[in-house]
Order: sequence, then structure tokens, then C-alpha cells
Amino acid sequence: MLGIDAALWHHYLLLSTFVLCPVILLGLLFLPAAYGRHAQGRSAIWGPGIPTRWSWVIMEMPSSVGFALIYFYGDKATDVVPLLLFMLWQAHYFHRTFVFPFRIRVKPGQTTPASIPLMSVMTNSVIAFLNAAILSWSSIRADYDLSWLSDPRFILGIVVFAAGWHINRKADALLSALRKPGESGYKIPHGWLYERVSCPNYLGEITIWCGWAIATWSWAGLAFVFLTIANLVPRALQNHRWYQQQFSNYPRHRKAIIPFVL
Ligand SMILES: NC(=O)c1ccc[n+]([C@@H]2O[C@H](COP(=O)([O-])OP(=O)(O)OC[C@H]3O[C@@H](n4cnc5c(N)ncnc54)[C@H](OP(=O)(O)O)[C@@H]3O)[C@@H](O)[C@H]2O)c1
Repeated sequence: MLGIDAALWHHYLLLSTFVLCPVILLGLLFLPAAYGRHAQGRSAIWGPGIPTRWSWVIMEMPSSVGFALIYFYGDKATDVVPLLLFMLWQAHYFHRTFVFPFRIRVKPGQTTPASIPLMSVMTNSVIAFLNAAILSWSSIRADYDLSWLSDPRFILGIVVFAAGWHINRKADALLSALRKPGESGYKIPHGWLYERVSCPNYLGEITIWCGWAIATWSWAGLAFVFLTIANLVPRALQNHRWYQQQFSNYPRHRKAIIPFVL
């Protein structure tokens, strides 16, 4: 009974995610999420502020700890391929939850409006359930046997994931290094992929989840690709426009997120 209920929940949450993605994309195109540079002067209507580092930890907790709890609740959690996919997911989200928030340079007293982590906790919980359950719950999917290790989709997915992971990590590290200790302003990033696009960190993030969707060959993975695009493409366009407005010497040939295209 629990199995049937869980499968139905999974089905409807998956459908809801696909339906919500275009709504989120359109909403964020017109109303930038009020954190970081786009919070200035707008934070009050997005709720009371909580310290930015802790906001990151809270909102990513469902994707790391929540994902692990859901995964290990499954009956196939100790199988080899699900475990490898679990580690792949955590390679990104353990860092994002427990390392990244303490590497960024924040202003003393910098806060993020509470509605941002609140909304992220909700969407990240759904995404964690959708993606963890397909790995280890046989009532939902969990059909990754050892033959999946030599499947071209698994191998290609890992390669794409690793490429995205490298781009995302390096781009975030270059941004963090722009500010010297005690600084809180913005500078033009230069070098590497920043010569091509304003937001290579977002490009890397989308690539990571494309890799995940290929490696798991799942609707849940595809739903997460769409949700990441819905969140980050509007943000990249807004960051790009913001740079052009702030810096008269901003490189003209640079695109927002896809080299030579967008
Ligand atoms: N999966 C998803 O849907 C999703 C959603 C959101 C974010 N993310 C990921 O989370 C990470 C951070 O995202 P984000 O939106 O916070 O990225 P971001 O706007 O690029 O900011 C990242 C950090 O760098 C600082 N920074 C940005 N541009 C700077 C500049 N020109 N000069 C000096 N410092 C600068 C920011 O400071 P301020 O805080 O002061 O602006 C912040 O501390 C990215 O890897 C992103 O891919 C994923």
C-alpha cells in the first residue's frame, strides 16, 4: 500500500514540477529573486533577513541530508549502481551545503530574505524525493543493475556531470577570489570562461544536471534540468544586464550564459 502511495506521490510531484517550470521561468524573468546584487532596496517585501551563510545551509539541506535520508529509506540503497549515483549527487550537494556557504565573501551582517530559503527548501525537498527515490526505492524505479555501469548513457552522463562540476566549481571559486578580505563590492570577472559569458557558474550548474539526467536516464533528472534552467537562465540574463549597467567598460562580446549564443 505504501509502495503504491509513494509511486503515486512520485508521479504527481513529477508532473507538477514539469508544469511549474515554465511558470517559475516566466515569474523570475519579471521578478528577479531578491538575493545578492538583486536584493538591494527590495529585500523588505521578501521577508525578514537571515544571515546569508545560514540561508545557504538551510536551503541546501534537503538536497544533501534530505536526499540521503530518502535514499537510505529505500530497499535498494546498498546496491552498487544506486550507491555510485548517490555519491555523484552528494559530490555536488555536500559541498554546496557545508563548504560553499563558508567560502563566499559576505558583507558583515549580510542577510538573505527568508522567503528565498523557504521557497528553495520546498522545491529542493521535492527534487530530492523525485531523484533519490528512483535510485533506491523499488516501488518507484530502482532498476539500476550492474549492467548499467557499462551503458553508454551512464558513462556519457558521468563525463557531462564531471565537466559541469569542474566549470561550476572553478567559476564560483574565481568569483569568491574577486573580493579581498573585508571587501564587499562587485568587480568585473576576467579570464577563462568569464571572457565568454557573465555566469559560467550557472552554465556549469545546468551542465551538471544534464549529466545527472543522462546518467540516470530518468524523468526525475530531466525535471531537475528544467527547474535549474527556469531558475538560472533568468538570473544569468539579469546579472548580465546588471554588469552592463554598472560597468561602462564591460566587455561587449561577452554573452550571459551560453558562449556566442545567449
Ligand atoms: N540549482 C539551482 O537552481 C541554483 C539556484 C541558485 C544558485 N545555484 C548555484 O549556487 C551558486 C551561487 O549562486 P548565486 O546565484 O549566489 O551566484 P552569484 O550571484 O554569482 O554569487 C556567488 C557569490 O559571488 C559573489 N559575487 C558575484 N559576482 C561578483 C562580482 N562580480 N564581484 C565580486 N563578488 C561577486 C556574490 O556576492 P553577493 O552575494 O554579494 O552578490 C556571492 O557571494 C552557483 O554555483 C549557482 O549555480 C543553483
